Amino acid sequence: MSLATRYLGLQLAHPIVAAASPLTATLDGMRRLEDAGAAAVVMASLYEEQIRAEDTAYALYTEHGSNSQAEAVSYFPELPDYDSGVSGHLETLQRASEALDIPVIASLNGTTAEGWIGHARALEQAGAAAIELNVYSVPVDPAISGAEVERRTLEVVRQVAASVQVPVAIKLMPYFSSMPHMAAELVRAGADGLVLFNRFYAPDIDLVTLRVTRSLPLSTAAELPLSLVWIALLSRRLACSLGAGRGVETDVEVVKYLLAGADVVMTASALLRHGPEHVATMREGLERWLGANGFDSVDAIRGLKDATHVEGVDALLRAQYVAALTEYLPGKLVQ
Ligand SMILES: Cc1cc2nc3c(=O)[nH]c(=O)nc-3n(C[C@H](O)[C@H](O)[C@H](O)COP(=O)(O)O)c2cc1C
Repeated sequence: MSLATRYLGLQLAHPIVAAASPLTATLDGMRRLEDAGAAAVVMASLYEEQIRAEDTAYALYTEHGSNSQAEAVSYFPELPDYDSGVSGHLETLQRASEALDIPVIASLNGTTAEGWIGHARALEQAGAAAIELNVYSVPVDPAISGAEVERRTLEVVRQVAASVQVPVAIKLMPYFSSMPHMAAELVRAGADGLVLFNRFYAPDIDLVTLRVTRSLPLSTAAELPLSLVWIALLSRRLACSLGAGRGVETDVEVVKYLLAGADVVMTASALLRHGPEHVATMREGLERWLGANGFDSVDAIRGLKDATHVEGVDALLRAQYVAALTEYLPGKLVQ
């Protein structure tokens, strides 16, 4: 039985990768994940706000916040679960890259061109096996078009890919008007891999205190379908690796993502919920499922259920949508 897979040109023992989270923010956390059998880890992102925290002007804003900009940056007041400052982050990355046998992929969340490029280079020098770009910006200005958002995203990928030698992946948000076109453009811009999809901070309103609350609830398998569909639709259509994430609770979701065409499956919430050792449970479950279903490798199932097996997939998706709706017609509803 071979669980081996390739991702971003890296040879991995199996396809289960620990996604960026507080578990991958420290050397100890990453070591625990390696001990538990993770095939690779994506270190928690280096946020440009951390970089700027070492800048005096930024420090003044955050320490003596008395204007609206200070209010905005206070969303990142101390990044409590993460090393503060770029030097601590790079040191952790360097020590993890040296100490671990599995690849340590760095993750970067920039806000300015210099931030993206300069710190991608620093992450590479600190020993990152690859760099994942965590593109997380919320366009709130009505003057900024979707085309402009795409142009800026592509420019970040183009500049970073041209600045480092290690492979570059980009973790996407699911909100592009034409995902296949954007995905192809990202590959043309130099992305070696796409990770589908990131999850976002979920603000809510507390009706008792009328305060806006911030939270990032852990995912469940109910979040699987969006990434699953897009992995299946993009599988074998692009010359790049595909990482699938969101909603991986057990080996069931791992198998589904592989059948859809993922090269690796990334998980954060389940590991936060159950601990790093859950990686081993998922890997054993994957191996068991393969054996029970007569497959001798991960390669044998990859993409078996991707959209390349379907004629007229756009029409089919619509037809299935309409058919699914009819399940809810009054006469058919179970009382
Ligand atoms: C508490 C927490 C912290 C996270 N931190 C990061 C991060 O630093 N960088 C990043 O790219 N994604 C981060 N993520 C997103 C995860 O890496 C992952 O993409 C997302 O949670 C979807 O996977 P899941 O459904 O297995 O949780 C974080 C998620 C959680 C829950």
